[in-house]
Amino acid sequence: MTAPGPPLALLAELTHRCPLGCPYCSNPMALERVRDEIDTATWQRVFDEAAALGALQIHFSGGEPMVRTDLVALVAHAHAAGLYTNLITSAVLLDERRLEPLKEAGLDHVQISLQDTVAENADRIAGYAGGHEKKLKAARLVRSAGLALTINAVMHRQNLAHLPQMIALALELGAGRLEVAQVQYYGWALKNRASLIPTRNEVSQAVAIVAEARERLKGRLVIDHVVPDYYAKRPKACMGGWARQFINLTPSGLALPCHAAQGIPQLRFDNVRDRPLAEIWQHSEAFERFRGTAWMAEPCRSCERREIDWGGCRCQAMAILGDAAATDPACALSAEHGRLLALAEAESAEAVPPAFVYRRYAKAEAEPTPASASASA
Ligand code: SF4
Ligand code: FES
Repeated sequence: MTAPGPPLALLAELTHRCPLGCPYCSNPMALERVRDEIDTATWQRVFDEAAALGALQIHFSGGEPMVRTDLVALVAHAHAAGLYTNLITSAVLLDERRLEPLKEAGLDHVQISLQDTVAENADRIAGYAGGHEKKLKAARLVRSAGLALTINAVMHRQNLAHLPQMIALALELGAGRLEVAQVQYYGWALKNRASLIPTRNEVSQAVAIVAEARERLKGRLVIDHVVPDYYAKRPKACMGGWARQFINLTPSGLALPCHAAQGIPQLRFDNVRDRPLAEIWQHSEAFERFRGTAWMAEPCRSCERREIDWGGCRCQAMAILGDAAATDPACALSAEHGRLLALAEAESAEAVPPAFVYRRYAKAEAEPTPASASASA
């Protein structure tokens, strides 16, 4: 196999701690504990290695990355290494006192997630009272500090009716970009799929709303739209292709080709504590396993789209079919496509969705820790 080109970005999951409990969280069901988080110096060494490898961006995420008391030092180091720095945050801990030093450290961009436009429903979905108001305040602070802002709107059957209001809110907050991210069903979202999945008709309406808004707001707001691929004919190029663009690091330092890869039990992951990032990117067994097209069976092997969508999503093939090397069942050419569609149609047709199973981190550990008590400090 030829050597891979450089990754585009490092997704640094600094911690799995988070005060919120979103039922669609992309973190794994088994959350990593604070005692296992890698320390400041190791993260900083990894940022240097990522820059040397040719990565251009770093995305600080979690959990809630702002619970790390060393976040400013991490941003400063990544910035000095020449990486474009993006903070992906719930923003409930982001106030003026925290924002100013991050800006000074060289933070380029902030992505804030919103759960809805109606505060009561937003707080219910997040499982965090008062969160929505805090988020709006933080978004305004980000803009008045002159930083670029993206709003991440995670949409599903329990908030999709407010899509026009969400677009208006992103505009009012001064965001340059809105990600209308309809839930993808991995991790916690897979567990809560029946509570979240919209009908095909609701998805079609959302597509039309986004198309109209894109046209109307050209030059003012960029809108990305990710639709639930259960209703698709062809799958998405998940992560831009396995091990082609991204390296995902868990809080304890495990290097994954995507955030859900630990759901594939046959894979073994290297840790940046033990192996340089360049070696992991080029030679790690988990990264090599589904890189390129050599692993593909039919119908992908002879399909003209095999280097466009790279066979879709390995984690979805694992979750639905129990075989990570199968064609993503979101593809209509998969013999199992009907099974996926039937699941979506049956669950979305339920008049009353089941109650959410919230993603919870032990409350005492979900808040920022004093420097002396944190493994990160
Ligand atoms: Fe993509 Fe495979 Fe479907 Fe072709 S058969 S469209 S490569 S998932
Ligand atoms: Fe893992 Fe799609 S989420 S390959």
